[in-house]
Amino acid sequence: MPAGFQQLGGERITGTLALSVFTAVLGSLQFGYNIGVINAPQKIIEQDYNSTWIHRYSEPIPERTLTSLWSLSVAIFSIGGMLSSFCVGFVSEWLGRRKAMLINNLLAFIGGGLMGMAKLCRSFEMMIMGRFIIGAYCGLASGLVPMYVGEISPTSLRGALGTLHQLAIVTGILIAQILGLQSLLGSQELWPVLLGVTVLPTVLQMALLPFCPESPRFLYIVRCQEHHAKSGLRRLTGKQEVSDDLAEMKEEKRRMDMERKVSIPELFRSPMYRQPIIIAILLQLSQQLSGINAIFYYSTSIFQTAGVESPVYATIGAGVVNCAFTVVSLFLVEKMGRRTLHMLGLSGMCVCAIVMTIALALLDSVPWMSYISMLAIFGFVAFFEVGPGPIPWFFVAELFSQGPRPAAMAVAGFSNWTANFIIGMGFQYIANVAGPYVFLIFAVLLLFFLLFTFFRVPETRGKTFDQISAAFHNHPPTMMDLDLGLDMELGKSSTELDYLGGEGNEN
Ligand SMILES: *[C@@H]1O[C@H](CO)[C@@H](O)[C@H](O)[C@H]1NC(C)=O
Repeated sequence: MPAGFQQLGGERITGTLALSVFTAVLGSLQFGYNIGVINAPQKIIEQDYNSTWIHRYSEPIPERTLTSLWSLSVAIFSIGGMLSSFCVGFVSEWLGRRKAMLINNLLAFIGGGLMGMAKLCRSFEMMIMGRFIIGAYCGLASGLVPMYVGEISPTSLRGALGTLHQLAIVTGILIAQILGLQSLLGSQELWPVLLGVTVLPTVLQMALLPFCPESPRFLYIVRCQEHHAKSGLRRLTGKQEVSDDLAEMKEEKRRMDMERKVSIPELFRSPMYRQPIIIAILLQLSQQLSGINAIFYYSTSIFQTAGVESPVYATIGAGVVNCAFTVVSLFLVEKMGRRTLHMLGLSGMCVCAIVMTIALALLDSVPWMSYISMLAIFGFVAFFEVGPGPIPWFFVAELFSQGPRPAAMAVAGFSNWTANFIIGMGFQYIANVAGPYVFLIFAVLLLFFLLFTFFRVPETRGKTFDQISAAFHNHPPTMMDLDLGLDMELGKSSTELDYLGGEGNEN
């Protein structure tokens, strides 16, 4: 590793830290892989469903049944994720972060195995079951990985290392798209391998996890094992003297002990939390109902409809754009603020959705419209990664303090996966009915979320939790809007100051 990188942010990245982060984000990689993998081989897997049906009932599968079975195979993934993301808090306290990740891999084995064997056993039930179980794996991983990485990273590197989760997800999507090429694994014979290959990162993660330390923060704050926490800290920081880090954890523990845990119903009942939880839910919905997964699950067939010559390569192009703009947003998010970027992303996506609709509608009369629709899809993906992709995830954690945070994260995760399911299940039907106008629906939704963000969502960049919650508590709603609008202006002008003062003082 180059020396310059090791010195990033004044903290040394030790071998143990790098290994632990790498090992953890293998889970995020699989999450992305399983989002992207279902896209390219849709037609050939559908053919196999058809031949299974013919084998069993001696008649071709009815069109409607096929659409239902396929939509279910795509969308049941989110049901698995929805159920398991609810268990993240409980599992991670009970087993510890590291052991939870280790045991979670069993789900990946079972899920990957079922999907890999489905063709051999002539069973679409196995395929659907496998998608459900791998979805459950991803739901747990999507909570455990950011938690573990956030807890083992030194404060000055937490943002940078935390975004590796999102980067690993989009990389996983891209790998799935490339392996899904007909000439690689996306063929009639090899698609079981394509779906089963998800067990490889699992094996690697299981082999490496024993060498990663358990999160010291968990050991100290939850388990009160100061001695073990210290030795873990020494390995992660490479320093013998860790009392500074320990003191910081003591402070966090003190704050946590002071605040009462808040239950999920309380979040909605208490006027103190109602406003922020509604914002948290709507931000998650804005991520999923923007239609992005319609692209990731169905882009190949969308490109086909749009008359693009090699739809699979266009899908890979979308994957590359996706990766590139995730990196861009890493650099923008601390500079421009969450609210601004989220609005920029939503409005960009809205414009792209409208352009896409026009292009698809004119396709029959103007052939080169297929290129316009392709560009619009690329733009749609790019704007997604600027704002609505990464921001809702960490925004929730910023809106709530220690006490209500676990409950708020669970509610947010649940809303995200539910919306994900609705899109996965419903898109193909709506697309069949609405034809080229399907993205107009998303454009309307995007406009709604844009207006909501403008009127209701505060800027959180560079503010402490106290300041953020004070903005919600102390004013009647109408005043609050004014106040937040004002804050945003102040936030803008203080941007330069932040930069003169350096990033470090924010933490
Ligand atoms: C299923 O396969 C049969 C025979 O190959 C074919 O005629 C039919 O169109 C297929 N049905 C669907 C919905 O693809």
